[in-house]
Amino acid sequence: MSTGSPKLRLAVLASGRGSNFEAICQAIDENRLHAEVVILISDKPGAPALEKAHRRGIESRLIVPASFTSREAYEQAMVKACQEAGADLVVLAGYMRILGQTFLREFRHKTVNIHPALLPAFPGLHAQLQAVEYGVRYSGCTVHFVDEGVDTGPIILQAVVPVYFDDTEDTLSARILEEEHRLYPEALQLIASGRVVIEGRKVRILSPK
Ligand code: GRF
Repeated sequence: MSTGSPKLRLAVLASGRGSNFEAICQAIDENRLHAEVVILISDKPGAPALEKAHRRGIESRLIVPASFTSREAYEQAMVKACQEAGADLVVLAGYMRILGQTFLREFRHKTVNIHPALLPAFPGLHAQLQAVEYGVRYSGCTVHFVDEGVDTGPIILQAVVPVYFDDTEDTLSARILEEEHRLYPEALQLIASGRVVIEGRKVRILSPK
């Protein structure tokens, strides 16, 4: 990994547990990801991700949508927090809201998400349960750029896991989560090393220099 170049500055947005946030921090600690988390922002008071940031000494902020008069005002506050932290890339890690134009005007092509299914299959909530109920043989996770749609942006990386007949939402979620923790840092490192190029709906991964 090139360590001479400046680190990619990440703003991580998380609504809950924060295990992907933790996996990203670990990858940074282990020099698998040339980046720095400059801020963790949550929309949920008491989200475990906030405590995880605190323990790591990472700046964290709670920005609650209900305390704003409009979605636009909320998104403006989010933009401001990310910009003030000097973020290059916004990383959604279990952030349970749709970001609209106000946010994406500033961070289009600079916001990524991880979704626990092989998009475009099973977007939205309870993706793992959708996969179990549909009876697919394989599911997985997808890291993608964020656009105005629900889990519709250009796909960066995907990982596949098998789905077994007796799987439940919980057993499949656990199998996928393991892959998420590997895949998200890997995708972020591709971006950090300048190897990710958006070409319309598709993403080209350049060979290492
Ligand atoms: C993950 O399954 C992720 O794919 C989805 O929300 C979950 C977040 O988990 N978007 P965590 O908060 O990172 O543990």
